[in-house]
Amino acid sequence: MKQRTHWESRVGFVLAASGSAVGLGNIWKFPYVTGENGGGFFVLVYLICVALVGLPVMIAEILIGRSTQNSPVGAFKSLSGTKSPWLSIGYLGLFSSFIILSFYSVVAGWSMHYTWLSVSGQLADLKPAEAEPIFDQLFQSTRMNLFWHMIFIGLTVGVVFKGISKGVERWSRILMPALFIMMLILLGKAIFMDGFSQAFQFVFGFNALKFSSTGALKALGQAFFSLSLGMGAMLTYGSYLRNQDGIVEASVTISILDTAIALISSLILFPIIFSYGMEPAAGPGLVFISIPIALSQMGSTTIFGTLFFALLVFAALTSAISMLEVSASYLIDEKKWTRVRATVVAGLAAGLFGIPSALSGGNWIFGSGLISLIGKNWFDSLDYLASNWMLPLGGLGIAIFTAWRMNEALRSKGFLSGSNLRIFYKIWLLLLKFLVPIAIVLIFLHAINLI
Ligand code: PHE
Repeated sequence: MKQRTHWESRVGFVLAASGSAVGLGNIWKFPYVTGENGGGFFVLVYLICVALVGLPVMIAEILIGRSTQNSPVGAFKSLSGTKSPWLSIGYLGLFSSFIILSFYSVVAGWSMHYTWLSVSGQLADLKPAEAEPIFDQLFQSTRMNLFWHMIFIGLTVGVVFKGISKGVERWSRILMPALFIMMLILLGKAIFMDGFSQAFQFVFGFNALKFSSTGALKALGQAFFSLSLGMGAMLTYGSYLRNQDGIVEASVTISILDTAIALISSLILFPIIFSYGMEPAAGPGLVFISIPIALSQMGSTTIFGTLFFALLVFAALTSAISMLEVSASYLIDEKKWTRVRATVVAGLAAGLFGIPSALSGGNWIFGSGLISLIGKNWFDSLDYLASNWMLPLGGLGIAIFTAWRMNEALRSKGFLSGSNLRIFYKIWLLLLKFLVPIAIVLIFLHAINLI
């Protein structure tokens, strides 16, 4: 087997994998999905999904990646043969990563636009009532959406073709902690807002009343989305992990960090929402409307706004990189393409496929036309399908494969190598064998109202 390039250290891997996990999913998506699904009970179901479904699947993904030193499709090929039906897990992952990148980059583009609005002083002296029209204007603008979407895809391609360890690892070391500190500063501000106790109650008050039949599905999908699971991103990153580094410790660290950032984001956003009498269910614009308000109250929109949105762009970039890396490493490993050709072609394809998502706010066909037909615009439909169905389906396949099909010697070696948490092996395997598949299937059945 040829040797791959590897992360320079365990910390490097944890940072890069956290870079994949922490992104728009935590700061943009988690609060608004929580808002749309009524708050506390959704958060509770989400936390259960992270601990009992997400974490075991993450360990499995990284383990498969490291054991095979390969990207998703190649990994299943080398474990189960070239014609095996298990390859479809790899192909499904490829497909999901492609779809998610196509709309993810639109939201990352919004973050770039807000970075620009902040630097150029356009958010200074913002009145609370002005925040929403500013977002709506962006949301509906075909030109700006397309422009930023393409710039962001270009940026992602630029980083991925330079190769995985150097660029990503170095920048993550500085910017991930910076983002965390920035969030703590904003949290410090939010705690003293009038709406904080109401927000706390909203996020942690476990009231099941507003939970719909698809609530559990959305919590599960959000857990997969936020932890970057079910499409082979963690598998691919795992393939660059050295043998002496423990997978379990790394996975636990990544999951805790990811969850902490999602919860902190909510505790920053909802106090603003409640203090200014806004709607918790405001949808995808939530972070872009509330953060500028909070910053203008701190009197420093230009500096802090630039910092916050630039770090958000960076967080999105480290996630987008891991999505593009899934298709790129497939083309490199399986089709023997050069890295440059693979990244440019995959990136361009995702960019083109993302155009309808970029147009969803202002274009009749992909926006209101679809909304009146199927109740969701193009962007939301892709998000719903990919995050809530395709990722958990991929996770289901990975869990069943690892628990029921994978060679015991290879599996236990992967789990134990470099780890001090050997005692959890049996528990992990039991979760993966029974609880994870059953939970995913039950949630699927519940979502289509069969149970
Ligand atoms: N986890 C990333 C986020 O929360 C998104 C992502 C999903 C990245 C799937 C890779 C794979 O923003």
